[in-house]
Amino acid sequence: MKIKLHIWRQSGPNDEGEFVSYEVENVSTHWSFLELLDVLNNQLIKKGEEPVTFEHDCREGICGSCGFMINGVPHGRQYSPEGRTTVCQLHMYKFKDGDELYLEPFRAKAFPVIKDLMVDRSAFDQIIAAGGYITVKAGNAPDADTILIPKEVANEAMNAAECIGCGACVASCKNASAMLFVSAKISHLGLLPQGQIERKRRAQRMIAKMDELGFGNCTNQYECEAVCPKGIRKDFIGRMNKDYIFSLNTNIETEKETIAI
Ligand code: FES
Repeated sequence: MKIKLHIWRQSGPNDEGEFVSYEVENVSTHWSFLELLDVLNNQLIKKGEEPVTFEHDCREGICGSCGFMINGVPHGRQYSPEGRTTVCQLHMYKFKDGDELYLEPFRAKAFPVIKDLMVDRSAFDQIIAAGGYITVKAGNAPDADTILIPKEVANEAMNAAECIGCGACVASCKNASAMLFVSAKISHLGLLPQGQIERKRRAQRMIAKMDELGFGNCTNQYECEAVCPKGIRKDFIGRMNKDYIFSLNTNIETEKETIAI
């Protein structure tokens, strides 16, 4: 089949950028979407043109590196109504001959475009560095049954830990809110006993960093949940808000730190 692509080309952060149209013929239904771009890039390189820059790593839906808008939706989620998907896991059998697709980078003030479809998502790293960790004593690993965790609590922590930090939640939100991402990270650690010591300061610091970096607030549209390739639930945002409110009676700057065993 033949696919027509209109791809956002932007040579750098200060370039204005524009859509450029390409056609890829003999597209196999077995290709992933990124393989479609690989083929296009081979064609461009052979013609002496600049290949399209896009980010990827695992190509297995694990790492969260890939991600751009396909016809206005992160990861082309609308082409996978039966399930969650990252763009690397989207396959060409979802499309039909003659389809025209508009590919754009994730748009958010906190995610500046680096080049073409690639954006700088290091703002997420800064939020994690602000509080998305626990402190434990170094040394031998403790026995696995030293701290018993109820199965339902462990399951819920793992549900939150599924977040791969791709940024689709931010890109889909009219406020460019990162609250689904931040709430997943806060909930993942806050649900577990090991995450209790820093729970209050984690909520305050990660939320303050999120605000500082220019992400917006949640206004309960839940586009984030709809496009999340890992099915992170909006309930985690409520959980994060509770942690934040609960933390406000504590001065995190004077709170004593205790190292977890
Ligand atoms: S390349 Fe790793 S999730 Fe897509």
